Amino acid sequence: MTIVRFLSANGDVLSEVEAAPGARLLDVAQADGQPLEGTCEGQMACSTCHVILEAEDFAKLPRASEEEEDMLDLAMHATRTSRLSCQIWLTEEMESISVRVPPGAHNMQGR
Ligand code: FES
Repeated sequence: MTIVRFLSANGDVLSEVEAAPGARLLDVAQADGQPLEGTCEGQMACSTCHVILEAEDFAKLPRASEEEEDMLDLAMHATRTSRLSCQIWLTEEMESISVRVPPGAHNMQGR
């Protein structure tokens, strides 16, 4: 199992869940009630599934595709360790992954 930790903007752990390898991070987040809309259901057309990873977890992931990078360019509050959670599948090797939901994730006027 992989441990997925959801962090607040200032790094507090909001919740911690276990997920099976092969699970998609967006699905795990939604099942846990995190405010990620995932409007396009993984078609890389919306960026409402944008999350920010801790640097060491970002390094565990395969590189983002060009389509994902292009979509991240449009995401609010994107950072160097931003990813689209619909493009992240958990693996046994990850062991744990810490994820921040960006500010204003479900509030379009959020800053
Ligand atoms: Fe739309 Fe991920 S769900 S880009």
